[in-house]
Amino acid sequence: MKVTLHVWRQAGPSVEGRLVRYKLDDVSEHMSLLEMLDVLNEQLIERGDDPVAFDHDCREGICGACGLVINGIPHGHHRRTTTCQLHMRSFSDGDEIYVEPWRADGFPAVRDLVVDRSAFDRIMQAGGYVSVGTGSAPDGNAIPIPKPLADRSMDAAECIGCGACVAACPNASAMLFTAAKVSQLALLPQGQPERSSRVQAMVSQMEREGFGSCTNHGECEAACPKGISLDFIARLNRELIRSKLRRSA
Ligand code: SF4
Ligand code: FES
Repeated sequence: MKVTLHVWRQAGPSVEGRLVRYKLDDVSEHMSLLEMLDVLNEQLIERGDDPVAFDHDCREGICGACGLVINGIPHGHHRRTTTCQLHMRSFSDGDEIYVEPWRADGFPAVRDLVVDRSAFDRIMQAGGYVSVGTGSAPDGNAIPIPKPLADRSMDAAECIGCGACVAACPNASAMLFTAAKVSQLALLPQGQPERSSRVQAMVSQMEREGFGSCTNHGECEAACPKGISLDFIARLNRELIRSKLRRSA
């Protein structure tokens, strides 16, 4: 395949960035989009240019490290697919492909396609830890959890913290991420002791990080590679109200 790339290049956080055009003439349809960027980088290094900086780790769709806006859509046009799992067979010979970083005040630019997503770590840290002594690995049946609750908690735990929800939202809201992280513990018996303090701390941290508010656009759910449902945002709102009522009771 031949493709024309328009890649966001930015030497540093305080330097103006721009889209730079690159032509690739020998792209295999079996390559992932990141492997195609690897090929571009080999060519750039060979001719003495700086390679394109981008984040990645597992390349298996499970770690959340990768994240690019591809033709205007976080993680590209395939539903429930991370950037690293998007393959060139999803594109056509001769395509023009625009590759840009997440754009949100909560994710400051670092270089090229890399942004600083440590705000998500701080939201997680604000939630603290589970204080219940769970001992060594218990027998799977020792803590009885109703199957529907366990399934729902696992649905929330699928969030890989990639940040596509923020990048897709016109308000750059981190509500879907925070809702998933709050819910995965709030649903389980082990999560009950800190249930109220956790949701308040995580939402306060989210607000301090500069993310916008949710106005129910639904773009986050559409962009999420793990199919985290908007229902979790409604659940987060209920959790927050519940925690405030308990404090005032
Ligand atoms: S909710 Fe979805 S899009 Fe947002 S960080 Fe988690 S996995 Fe990524
Ligand atoms: S590199 Fe881990 S999810 Fe893409």
